[in-house]
Amino acid sequence: MAQGFETRQIHAGEVIDAQAGARITPIYQTAGYVFDSFDEAESRFSDRGDLPVYSRQSNPSNRVVEGRIADLEGGRGALLTGSGQAAIFTAIYALASAGDRILVTTSLYEGTKQLFRNSLSRQGLEFVFIDAEADDDEWRRHVTERTKAIYTETIPNPKNDIPDLARLARLAHEAGIPFVVDNTVATPYLARPIEWGADIVVHSTSKWLGGHGAVLGGAVVDAGTFDWTAHAQRFPQFHRSPRPGTPSYAERFGTGAFLPFAVTVANEYGPTLPATSAWLLLLGIETLSLRLDRHVANTQRVAEWLEQHPAVAGVDYPGLPSSPWHERARTYLPKGPGSVLAFDVRGGREAARTVLDALRLVTRMTHIGDVRTLAIHTGSTIHGALTEPDRLALGITPGLIRLSVGLETVDDVIADLDQALARVVAPGR
Ligand SMILES: Cc1ncc(COP(=O)(O)O)c(C=O)c1O
Repeated sequence: MAQGFETRQIHAGEVIDAQAGARITPIYQTAGYVFDSFDEAESRFSDRGDLPVYSRQSNPSNRVVEGRIADLEGGRGALLTGSGQAAIFTAIYALASAGDRILVTTSLYEGTKQLFRNSLSRQGLEFVFIDAEADDDEWRRHVTERTKAIYTETIPNPKNDIPDLARLARLAHEAGIPFVVDNTVATPYLARPIEWGADIVVHSTSKWLGGHGAVLGGAVVDAGTFDWTAHAQRFPQFHRSPRPGTPSYAERFGTGAFLPFAVTVANEYGPTLPATSAWLLLLGIETLSLRLDRHVANTQRVAEWLEQHPAVAGVDYPGLPSSPWHERARTYLPKGPGSVLAFDVRGGREAARTVLDALRLVTRMTHIGDVRTLAIHTGSTIHGALTEPDRLALGITPGLIRLSVGLETVDDVIADLDQALARVVAPGR
């Protein structure tokens, strides 16, 4: 019988330390590894075998965490990176080259959009942003032979406008391209995009997977589902040999070719996650389901409370029956739609300033997925580089505050919001 999620978040991928039998995965905080002989060095270098060569390429602590995240996502393998941004960069860089195009849903974490619009565009990649709700023909219209992926987020940060994963997967596969999903805000406990057709999943593990706001990290998960051989012309990189005289990635790994190729890409430019960070991440993952259940319950309470507050014009949280994304969230996120919400304070930017400056328990901070409740006015910070019309087009209204609801006693969080909101004069109050 397949083991349950709670068992796997504690045990999947574990390797009992051969030297002392340590129950907890040791931290292999080392740059390199001793080669016993000339021949052993050559053999370790010949491929990504069981034994590591150098920690930029692989590390035993990291491998345990990679195995665990891959298992929880239902993937074939995973690669850890130094941050979520590095994971997204690695995935896109492995798929696309100068002149190639990626289709992207418009509602996404702003840092990802900046990576796409700035650094990756500068390298000659083209990103076409399309409303996730645009009809099939609109999506198909942007597919050319240079289009290499469709990219979205399970729960878009911060608007929570849940995309139809199964439909986007179908459109990607119809076009002969992989479907890439950022599953950061859902985590594999709340949603597993691979079950809905994703071929590659990326994460910022800095958020709920790590869970304590103590450590940055990222992950790229390969579902092992995409047939690179059937689309050899579109993806020539998987049909080259890593070394002369050896089989290509596709010949050797078949539908699992993406991950070893991504490992090569990451090894070449070096966005390595330190072993100590991997170890802290592992500790976080062990309690993921417990934390997420409480995060979701607290967020539902806070969202319901905010929705009835006269100083609040609206709340973006798909757990609310009033949300246009409520039904879709029930399909894709049956255990709950995460713990980020955005609420619009009546009175715009000045009212949002008053509320944020009055918070005592809730931390003003740019981050999500912490045990602590965090708040930020995204319009003047994360979305500060956009024009006002661009912000409004994304639903980032002047009074919008993003809240990442933590694990404090929820009544205390509500009490803090209550005293802060009481300082803004609400029409009709
Ligand atoms: C959905 C999402 N993806 C990726 C990232 C980037 O992750 P990191 O901060 O670990 O680079 C973030 C950061 O907030 C995020 O919210």
